[in-house]
Amino acid sequence: AQLHGAAKTAGLLYFGTETESVSFGDAAYQAALKGNNDFGQITPGNSMKWDSIQPAPNTFSFTAGDAIANLATANNQLLRCHNLVWHQQLPAWVSGGNWTAASLTAVLQNHITTEVTHYKGNCYAWDVVNEALNDNGTFRNDVFFNTLGMEYIKIAFQAAAAADPAAKLYYNDFGTEFPGVKSTAAQGIVKMLKAASIKIDGVGFQAHFTVGGTPSVATQVTNMQAFTALGVEVAITELDIRMTLPQTDALLAQQKTDYQTTAAACLATKNCVGLTVWDFDDKYSWIESTFPGTGSGDLMDATVTKKPAYFGVLQAFTGK
Ligand code: G3I
Repeated sequence: AQLHGAAKTAGLLYFGTETESVSFGDAAYQAALKGNNDFGQITPGNSMKWDSIQPAPNTFSFTAGDAIANLATANNQLLRCHNLVWHQQLPAWVSGGNWTAASLTAVLQNHITTEVTHYKGNCYAWDVVNEALNDNGTFRNDVFFNTLGMEYIKIAFQAAAAADPAAKLYYNDFGTEFPGVKSTAAQGIVKMLKAASIKIDGVGFQAHFTVGGTPSVATQVTNMQAFTALGVEVAITELDIRMTLPQTDALLAQQKTDYQTTAAACLATKNCVGLTVWDFDDKYSWIESTFPGTGSGDLMDATVTKKPAYFGVLQAFTGK
């Protein structure tokens, strides 16, 4: 059994990975991405974000996003589409604009309607709103919240639902993988949308964890169940588990345990549909540049060699 195959046998919909066009010329990586039934789903790391799709007002550029969508089709992989509204990778014409509530609503609706319509039928799910919350559970003071308050979240989900009624619409965040104020606030977003009869289908837990700092199975399951009790599905959407370098055998062993823990938590949660790693190969990881002195967070090393963590996930799915 391989990761995606074993995940399906165990009852999940998919096991997948983030990927980007920077790896298109890398034969070993591409073989691992499409071979062996390890990855049944992909997510574009950057190319469906606002700065890539609409870099200037009403100038849309789908080439990079299409390349990932086409790869999913060619490889027979599900596509998670990421993301429509986020405070990062947001062009300055949006973040620095001088908006009224009406003018920013029009911009949001135009962006979402145009992008979701373009990818209609391709996306298993859309991350509609990404990282709206601060760690203390308040809303981030980005241009959307400052101009529209919580209404921007309703506007975003409504526009996405109208443009592709078949795509699952997700709220996606980090630091929400365990009970606490941020998780409670994310549940508040689900409740707010449900109370307004606005479509939300899922909540994504990014799960950018650290070796030894990964929440236990029970903690993750309890937390995810608080969301599924509200009538949404859940998924692990950006899993990686970084360590302080240099890598040691002891750290790799703990990392294996931590990956196994997270896969087991999804499996043990009814309506946790799948897991996505935020790339499977250390060569293309975002971790080292963002958290200097840490790294080695992925299932395979930069030579596409499986680390113990790979077998930890497989054990969670197969029991052996
Ligand atoms: O495209 C430019 C290129 O033109 C320029 O020459 C180069 C020089 O720095 O930068 C390139 O942009 C980079 C972009 O990735 C594409 O490679 C940005 O600097 C870099 O900041 C950006 O990083 C991405 C990061 O989001 C931005 O916050 C990572 O690749 C991407 O993996 C990461 O993904 C996020 C999820 O979307 C949301 N959750 C957290 C996760 C990790 O940060």
